[in-house]
Amino acid sequence: MNANQGNNQAAGKPMNRVDGRLKVTGGARYAAEFPTENLAHAVVVESTIARGRITKIDTSAAEKSPGVLAVITHLNAPKLGQSSGNRNTSGEQAVEGGGDPFSKPILVLQDTTITFYGQHIGVVIAETLEQARYAADLVKVTYAKETPVVSLEKNLARAYKPEKLLIPLEPDSGRGDINQGLKEADVQVDETYSTPVEHHNPMESSATIAVWQGDRLTLYDASQNVNGVQTTVANTLRIPPQNIQVISHYVGGGFGCKFRAKSHNILAAIAAQRVKRPVKLVLTRQQMFTSVGCRPHSLQRIRLGAKKDGKLTAVAHEITTQTDIAREFIEHVGAGTNMMYSTPNILVAHRAVPLNMVAPTIMRAPGETPGMYALESGMDELAYKLGIDPVELRIINDPPQDPEKNLPWSSRSLVQCLQQGAKRFGWERRNPKPRSMQEGRYLIGYGVASATYPANRRPASARTRILSDGKVLVQIAATDLGTGTYTILTQVAAEALGVSPEQVRVEIGDTQLPPTPGSGGSWGAASYGSAVQDCCVAARAKVLALVQKDTRSSLKGLSDGDMEVRAGRIVSKQDSSKGETYQQILTRNNLKEVVAEVESKPDGTAKKYSMHSFGAHFAEVRIDQDLGEVRVSRFLGVFGAGRILNPKTAASQMIGGIVWGIGMALHEETVIDERYGHFVNHNLGEYHVPVNADIPNIEVSFVEEKDPHVNPLGVKGVGEIGIVGAAAAVANAVYHATGKRIRDLPMTPDKLL
Ligand code: MOS
Repeated sequence: MNANQGNNQAAGKPMNRVDGRLKVTGGARYAAEFPTENLAHAVVVESTIARGRITKIDTSAAEKSPGVLAVITHLNAPKLGQSSGNRNTSGEQAVEGGGDPFSKPILVLQDTTITFYGQHIGVVIAETLEQARYAADLVKVTYAKETPVVSLEKNLARAYKPEKLLIPLEPDSGRGDINQGLKEADVQVDETYSTPVEHHNPMESSATIAVWQGDRLTLYDASQNVNGVQTTVANTLRIPPQNIQVISHYVGGGFGCKFRAKSHNILAAIAAQRVKRPVKLVLTRQQMFTSVGCRPHSLQRIRLGAKKDGKLTAVAHEITTQTDIAREFIEHVGAGTNMMYSTPNILVAHRAVPLNMVAPTIMRAPGETPGMYALESGMDELAYKLGIDPVELRIINDPPQDPEKNLPWSSRSLVQCLQQGAKRFGWERRNPKPRSMQEGRYLIGYGVASATYPANRRPASARTRILSDGKVLVQIAATDLGTGTYTILTQVAAEALGVSPEQVRVEIGDTQLPPTPGSGGSWGAASYGSAVQDCCVAARAKVLALVQKDTRSSLKGLSDGDMEVRAGRIVSKQDSSKGETYQQILTRNNLKEVVAEVESKPDGTAKKYSMHSFGAHFAEVRIDQDLGEVRVSRFLGVFGAGRILNPKTAASQMIGGIVWGIGMALHEETVIDERYGHFVNHNLGEYHVPVNADIPNIEVSFVEEKDPHVNPLGVKGVGEIGIVGAAAAVANAVYHATGKRIRDLPMTPDKLL
């Protein structure tokens, strides 16, 4: 039997979400919904300046307010983190400790320094939410204000070269000689593109219920990463991680803002400790903008050089992005550029300006999302200058192997994605001339862009319990952000054990279960899926071992290869009348269950192959000439992302990413008031995201891709690639429709008129 055997092929089918019914009936319990006795409510107090110091904080009125149990500020907060001498307090940030930056302590309420508007400076705990919220308004804070540094454009002189980026890529990378390459070019592009600050805005805002029992802490948390929150909270409170249990069964979206612990987790924990009662802390929608990070603003200069035949002679991608004052977060904006196209000369450089703004964090395809917008816009500009079709230009420069790592691709289907997509989209109907297609007063444009995202996998553990009634329980710490984790793990387990998916129950989202990395980096399916497959195979092997030597079994003496599982029944391949169910075997052996727990790690293959997903986006826009209003009228995304475990949930991921790409192109922007450093549109009324009326029929398909190298499941992961390049396809369509190139997102009507 091999790992993928199982004759029902549960994986690969468009199975409905196993948690769908619970979600639509309200049965799925989210963090803020855990019934807790004697619950008190906490409300965060945020700074109303972006830079300076608290000179006085008067909590007396708040403390006397009805129902108030405690007010915690820097004056009476417990000491957090490891050592003394750390002057940094700002919200999410932490500067000490080595290792994983995501597990560093969060030193909230430790001193008077303010480094951004909305920094958490206190927490009020009361009997009811209303009482806590009212009292939070009564906290009087006096500041010594300084002028905040919030504009990236006006502070380029402060740009510095960071020591490292979020991923292991040098801040400056490349090969060859960019100046030489540009000199050899027949045609050049030199343009600068800008992407704004954006916010994740998941439907469910961040929430934590903190419950202490003696020295043990339970956090019911809206988290992408239960083990990560456990570690960070342990490091911050200086208690052993095993004393902390983090539970996150259902999450209403995260997109990166729920990946690491944030200061509200710490505030909930210390609040519960202080009032000796369970405490619930839910961030308001407005507080979400200043409490859980954002996508940083980027300025990206793209220089391209090409010969007349379209072959690139030079690619330069020079990026300036924002980081925050207290902690370094540098997005790897140029990571996609490094490996995307063939060119002998390339330079990718990252610079950063520290701003008095909430620390940026990962947000759906951090790095690739802004970076590929710029690169793919530049490629489009180059195509027009060369007079080469933009689909063709990308195919001409498709590299036979990873040009950065000098490794073969584990698989790369970009050309197939472009060709299949062009055919399906009717690309041949496009008149290459800008502003040449029109219907009434609507200008029509077609745009294309490529997508890429790495196929990541991380070590993960899982446990499989085959129960005596034939049912299967799979346990793994993993989280499901709404992406379909429960469902695909059910499918993987069903396939590996040869049982029907209805027999399988998956438990996730709890640090008491075998540990995993958080859901992020599109590695969930590959990491959790591999772990679940491995532990199911191990459990199945234990059951096979039970029958092989058992004289009571009709399967006695058969080797592993002589047997297979069909519909929960282990049978002889030669003679399927010989067989027994898991249930029969366990019952005869008086076993309540057969358990296997496995830690599943990538082997060294990632050193031998470059592993990425690829895709192609095709957008059609209709632009009202009089109003400058852009409507995306059609969108097609074609992706090569390895084996697709569930075409339905995977397509939903891609559609979600494309919706976001359309939002990035046309709507999304967090506006900063440069005088005060606050976000002006910190609500869903004024922070525009696409709504149903903005979204056309989005078509998504996957090219067949069998990649034996990425992992035994052949899975690359589909969380993030959907958004990468999508905004560029829209921007390129806007240029094609109008002849006007908008290089700063979002492309609002004022920029088009
Ligand atoms: Mo994703 S930004 O890795 O949650």
